[in-house]
Amino acid sequence: MWNEDCHRHKGRVAIVTGAASGIGRATAIRLASEGATVVLADMQGDKLEAAATEITSKGGIASGMPCNIAIEAEVKRLVEHALSKHGKLDILANVAGVSSRHDPIYTASLEEFNRIASINLAGTFLCIKHASAAMKERRYGRIVNVSSIASFRTGAKGNAAYSASKGGVKAMTHQLVLDLSEFGITVNAVAPGVIQTPMTAGGGIERLNARAKLIPLGRVGQPEDIAVAIAFLASEEAAFITGQMLTVDGGMTSVVYEAA
Ligand SMILES: NC(=O)c1ccc[n+]([C@@H]2O[C@H](COP(=O)([O-])OP(=O)(O)OC[C@H]3O[C@@H](n4cnc5c(N)ncnc54)[C@H](O)[C@@H]3O)[C@@H](O)[C@H]2O)c1
Repeated sequence: MWNEDCHRHKGRVAIVTGAASGIGRATAIRLASEGATVVLADMQGDKLEAAATEITSKGGIASGMPCNIAIEAEVKRLVEHALSKHGKLDILANVAGVSSRHDPIYTASLEEFNRIASINLAGTFLCIKHASAAMKERRYGRIVNVSSIASFRTGAKGNAAYSASKGGVKAMTHQLVLDLSEFGITVNAVAPGVIQTPMTAGGGIERLNARAKLIPLGRVGQPEDIAVAIAFLASEEAAFITGQMLTVDGGMTSVVYEAA
């Protein structure tokens, strides 16, 4: 959602991971529309370029940088790219992530557990490590992680690896206030509920519509619903908010059951 009425990110430089698709793409577009210079990072090169081109065609400043966040050398190169091209780094939005195969715990493989953890948890850790080293020098930074309602509730069997990875992101968000606050860096997280993206497209629109019945606001979320929350936590207005996780789920996790 292009937001020309707000310029709160003007002059800021942001990295958005997972920016080729879904929530990451919407976040990159939102931050750029509000004035940020955005480096879009993702493993999907073609889609990455398309997202960056969409932003520049609307007058925003953006470039794409292929990056696998699970590989430290690539993350280091991503941050170095932002610094050499734009001179600083103000915002990191850690959106890249993968869902897991839904194998029950008694047959699940360690390989699959490690694959999910290496991207969702270790990848987020690596991005924060290298971004915060750069932010620390200028004593300013906004880091926004993407966890999930799966970090504190469940709605699917066979989701242990994914839930654990997102629980790790939540725990790391709380912990990092002690590492980073003295450098003026805030660290927060967003916990999306059910959001309509390629990640949730698997079961088709019928499956999403069935989920909508469980959501008090009566619909599944759109990537922009999460992008606006990330853009807020990445802004000056959120200067005194750190170590928090904001749930954006249309009310879903507030409901235990609805009495007849
Ligand atoms: N869609 C939902 O309902 C939902 C709910 C809760 C949390 N989330 C989280 O939101 C984030 C975005 O998900 P989405 O729904 O937009 O999915 P998506 O599949 O549309 O986008 C994820 C993006 O991350 C990229 N990516 C995956 N592994 C990567 C890696 N190693 N390095 C760099 N990029 C990589 C993918 O290429 C893709 O472009 C994820 O962290 C996901 O776990 C999504």
